Amino acid sequence: MKYANLEWRDGQPYSPDFDDVYFSADDGIAETEHVFIHHNDLLLRFQQNTKKHFVIGETGFGSGLNFLIAVKHWLALSKTEQTLHFYSLENTPFTLDDIIQAQQVWPELSLLAAVFQKHYQVASYGFHQFDLFAGRVKLVLMIGEAQTMLTQMQSKVDAWFLDGFAPARNTEMWSDNIFSQIRRLSYASTTFSTYTAAGFVRRGLIDQGFTVEKVEGTGHKRHMLKGGLSDEDNVETKLLQPWFENKTQQLKNKKITIVGAGIAGITTAWALVKRGFEVEIIEAEKKVAAQASGNLQGILMPRLSLQDSADAEFYTSAFFYALRCLKELDNQQTCWQQTGGIQLASSERIKKQIEKYPQDKILAQVLDAKSATEISGLSIKESVHYFSQASCVSPQLLLQCMVDKMGDALKITYQAKVESIQFKNNQWQLINKANEVIKETPNLILANAWQVKQFKQFEHLQIQPVRGQLSYFKPNEKSKKLKMPISFDAYLMPENNGQHLSGASFELGDSDTELRIKDFRDNLQNINKWFGKIFVEDDICGGRASVRAVTPDRMPVVGCVSDQAQALIDYADLHKGKPAHQYPFTKVLPNLYVNAGYGARGFTSVFLCSELLAATICDEPLPVSNRVRYALHSSRFLIRSLKKRRV
Ligand SMILES: Cc1cc2nc3c(=O)[nH]c(=O)nc-3n(C[C@H](O)[C@H](O)[C@H](O)COP(=O)(O)OP(=O)(O)OC[C@H]3O[C@@H](n4cnc5c(N)ncnc54)[C@H](O)[C@@H]3O)c2cc1C
Ligand SMILES: C[S@@+](CC[C@H](N)C(=O)[O-])C[C@H]1O[C@@H](n2cnc3c(N)ncnc32)[C@H](O)[C@@H]1O
Repeated sequence: MKYANLEWRDGQPYSPDFDDVYFSADDGIAETEHVFIHHNDLLLRFQQNTKKHFVIGETGFGSGLNFLIAVKHWLALSKTEQTLHFYSLENTPFTLDDIIQAQQVWPELSLLAAVFQKHYQVASYGFHQFDLFAGRVKLVLMIGEAQTMLTQMQSKVDAWFLDGFAPARNTEMWSDNIFSQIRRLSYASTTFSTYTAAGFVRRGLIDQGFTVEKVEGTGHKRHMLKGGLSDEDNVETKLLQPWFENKTQQLKNKKITIVGAGIAGITTAWALVKRGFEVEIIEAEKKVAAQASGNLQGILMPRLSLQDSADAEFYTSAFFYALRCLKELDNQQTCWQQTGGIQLASSERIKKQIEKYPQDKILAQVLDAKSATEISGLSIKESVHYFSQASCVSPQLLLQCMVDKMGDALKITYQAKVESIQFKNNQWQLINKANEVIKETPNLILANAWQVKQFKQFEHLQIQPVRGQLSYFKPNEKSKKLKMPISFDAYLMPENNGQHLSGASFELGDSDTELRIKDFRDNLQNINKWFGKIFVEDDICGGRASVRAVTPDRMPVVGCVSDQAQALIDYADLHKGKPAHQYPFTKVLPNLYVNAGYGARGFTSVFLCSELLAATICDEPLPVSNRVRYALHSSRFLIRSLKKRRV
């Protein structure tokens, strides 16, 4: 990802590549107020809005001036329970330093700017959601080429700010393809405005069915354009992959039941409680974090990829989102510590990444052996990836902290194992071993890791248990010097409460949690392979085995649940390659959702997934791109098989 190439002229940012300013050099605020706020009629619309949310779409985030001004009015005029979703695309974002420099010219926005700057951080392509102002504003920065980013958007927009550079010099931002995406994402009441009055922009928008008016501009600009879709317009929605789309489900009430009190269940509850839900968790064990989520420590680290793929986008976006959530939850860093972390070149794939992944202080830097040794405290022999924002998490503390913060909005019923579920009289019934209905609920989420497959509705899911055993080691002079987690084909954590944690084994298809001597030995051998004889057998002072839930593509499974029998009928001839729009939406099981399949990086990925799930349940604009949403869909395995005619 490239950052903006800026020159500063009279203290204001200027793009030499486009020979243009980011906002009016005379009075940026007045221009935004006139062009974007006034001509989208936002003051009145914010005040009179009766929907839960309002969506602004912007082409070109730049310095964030338009965003800050829209937020200022939103906070003043909307109701506290309403959320502004601001989607803005940008292919060369400002660095934080540049944002700070640009925004300091508007003292009247300094309070809002300070909140934004505290969160702002962009280091990778894709969608990045920032939850600001106690949930009243959700900014989604869509980092990448304009057209690609718009194709990845799903939410309908209420008002567009068309704010590319001068159309003659920035044609990619004003092309027919862009206008057709803008049209796809618009509905009968959508409006747009732009500072330009260029003829080809006007014609392009008219061709897409917008009514366009030329009105008085501001400053040096005599004219500008504004308009919208008229009420009679029948806006057709062509969805890219209907087998991953479903008709919006009506929520019967704001009560929901979740099976599983691991990190997936607790973060889902967290995202729903923030939205005013009453949540009950049904948990088989006696406490939260009793299974995979109960390790004493875990690493929060991004999973990089050299390919531009949905999973690469997902894991970097999720990493940054998790960090923002942890800061919001526990700013003092008692349940987690941002130590930084090291990735050794433990495989050919990672070696290549270290050689080729673009360097960025915020995400991943390459350190030579000497610097890696200095920064980590342990002797390292080769170049490594250093993640300055990687963190150590204490899962048990974290989950307990979240449970405490949810107070009465969350009830947990322990020692209640659900054996099966069935839908009867418009309710999901949760049934125990004695065949008793232990709970009836209209809205149900399964967050019970690999055990989700025990339910017949999920038999088809390709989730496997993968046993992992961690070892604890007594610290010694050498090991005590370690300052941050190091990941290799296992990981080693710095000393914590008088011990180091290291591991883990990886046994596919194995769900046994008894400690094994062989695994202790393997863990020891593995660490010593990388760090000389750092530990001996006598240093082993304990361990813990638990079970990951792993999918073949290493992505979790999140969202609505398709009716598989119906999907087999509806998509039986997918292998024929017919146009996607000829297929119906997928039929889903009523108000049933899943949030599972967290493998080795559950803590990195779960916060974004739970936010996505909560937004899906509440029919809100979503925090991820279409391709990420599809890559997480529970039907993806079936759809892949149907496409290859393997069913
Ligand atoms: C050894 C090991 C080391 C790891 N290290 C890291 C790390 O460093 N960083 C990282 O990010 N991730 C790590 N992970 C992965 C991470 O721990 C998991 O991805 C995450 O904890 C999964 O959370 P979960 O809520 O999906 O599952 P779980 O924590 O297993 O929770 C599922 C819950 O559902 C309950 N349940 C299951 N079936 C039923 C039922 N039928 N009825 C009622 N309740 C039920 C279970 O009792 C359990 O409490 C590690 C995993 C292992 C095994
Ligand atoms: C006029 S500036 C936007 C100013 C901004 N709205 C503000 O409030 O500061 C135009 C922006 O569009 C971005 N841009 C230009 N071409 C683009 C493209 N092809 N894809 C994505 N973004 C692009 C530029 O990087 C720049 O930030």
